[in-house]
Amino acid sequence: MEKPIIIANWKEYGTSNDIRQWLITFEHEQQLLSSYNTILCPPFTLLSLAREFINQTGIAITLGAQNVSRFGEGKYTGEVSAHMIAEFTSYAIIGHSERRRDLGETDATVGKKIKLLKETTVSPVVCVSDISQVIALKNIIGDYSDVIAYEPLFAIGSGNPDSPNNANAMASNIKQQLPNATIIYGGSVDSKNVSSFLSQTNISGTLVGNRSLDPNFFLEILKHAH
Ligand code: PGA
Repeated sequence: MEKPIIIANWKEYGTSNDIRQWLITFEHEQQLLSSYNTILCPPFTLLSLAREFINQTGIAITLGAQNVSRFGEGKYTGEVSAHMIAEFTSYAIIGHSERRRDLGETDATVGKKIKLLKETTVSPVVCVSDISQVIALKNIIGDYSDVIAYEPLFAIGSGNPDSPNNANAMASNIKQQLPNATIIYGGSVDSKNVSSFLSQTNISGTLVGNRSLDPNFFLEILKHAH
């Protein structure tokens, strides 16, 4: 069986000092880390520092980006291409509801980003909040076989997670559309509820926002995830 996926999504937070401290906390948790596919997604500005730390210490943390340009390399001021992030990360979150809401991300741009990532070694983690976004993904990509994070809008950053049963039923609906996708759940995951999501038959991991920035909170999540 694949290891459960646990993603730390830092969003628009964090300095070089923060990430150094965070990684130092996990340097001594090698055994715990290696029970999971633990993926740290800091802002672009911190990827290089994190990459260096991970290479030097060999800790079992995989890096992810929080976004990728919908364009290939070119004259697109401020954008970071799939090939550029491939130097640092194995994953990229795309279509997060915050980007869909505030930054013009659409099903069509999600599709473009997936296609560009497919030219690299970076795997997409596509966030969806309802089944219509899953159907759009299927229409654009066909048999999508990477990670989908189901994140209901009411649950994100609210302290009000979906019920594990409901999340599992939604994951099952997603699998009916995209049988080869790996489904994870995100939205107010903490150390108290993480195992109730991971124990669901259709849920293979969690995406953690708020509780991922403080290394001690995130460590508690890993400790309670079994
Ligand atoms: P949250 O965020 O854990 O703070 O709810 C999850 C996410 O938006 O990825």
